[in-house]
Amino acid sequence: MTMWTASKIKASKGRQKLVCLTAYDFSTARLIDEAGIELVLVGDSLAMTMLGYDTTLPVTLEQMLHHTAAVVRGVKSALVVADMPFMSYQVSPEQAIANAGRFVKEAGAGAVKVEGGAFRAPTIRALVENGIPALGHIGLTPQSIRELGGYTVQGRRPEQAEQLLADAQALEKAGAFAIVLECLPPALAEEITAIVGVPTIGIGAGKGCDGQILVTHDLLGLYSGHTPKFVKRYADLGAEMRRAFAAYRHEVENGVFPGEEHTY
Ligand code: KIV
Repeated sequence: MTMWTASKIKASKGRQKLVCLTAYDFSTARLIDEAGIELVLVGDSLAMTMLGYDTTLPVTLEQMLHHTAAVVRGVKSALVVADMPFMSYQVSPEQAIANAGRFVKEAGAGAVKVEGGAFRAPTIRALVENGIPALGHIGLTPQSIRELGGYTVQGRRPEQAEQLLADAQALEKAGAFAIVLECLPPALAEEITAIVGVPTIGIGAGKGCDGQILVTHDLLGLYSGHTPKFVKRYADLGAEMRRAFAAYRHEVENGVFPGEEHTY
């Protein structure tokens, strides 16, 4: 069994496609790990999928620590990456080190993820120099939703594309072990993938990336909010749960459950 670390993920570029998913709880993390997924992200998307907020902004550091620790308990092989929540790292590299340190020390994470381009490079450098592997995230960065104005494709204009290429190179230089590319035109994602020496992990960025990530609730059909075009639904567990809840209700109401076999 491979124990995935940030340095193994970095070294995998050009050797294999990285398969990554989000997880927020022990049981799901265990199933994902057993499926051989290389990287499990405790995404701040849990603000929406687990906590019912409209954006990722309200989730707190304490909530992210709580979910990260649960995921770590479920994982034996994958690298667990904790997503640093809004305003837990933006204030200064010192703030980022202190809070990222809690993800490693208290929750057992193997790495953290921070959003932002070249302007975030000093933070990534500070984390890495202090022994905390950092995953970058550029393109559509949901913590900037108030500034971006919507969940739309990034980098369509030539000057935006140039900036994103420079961002990816700056994050690599600062020491990021991999970079998430969210909602980019596939040609731009391919270009970034070709010029950086660390793996790119795409979400809504086409098949030219070194790996792919999806939000597990989207893949399983568990999230009832807006589902972006880039999501492929591999199961409809929402429908299956509705069916099971209705069957249970019916059997309790009609005296079918509990049966002989469920009774001492
Ligand atoms: O929070 C999250 O789930 C993420 C992924 C979409 C990359 O950041």
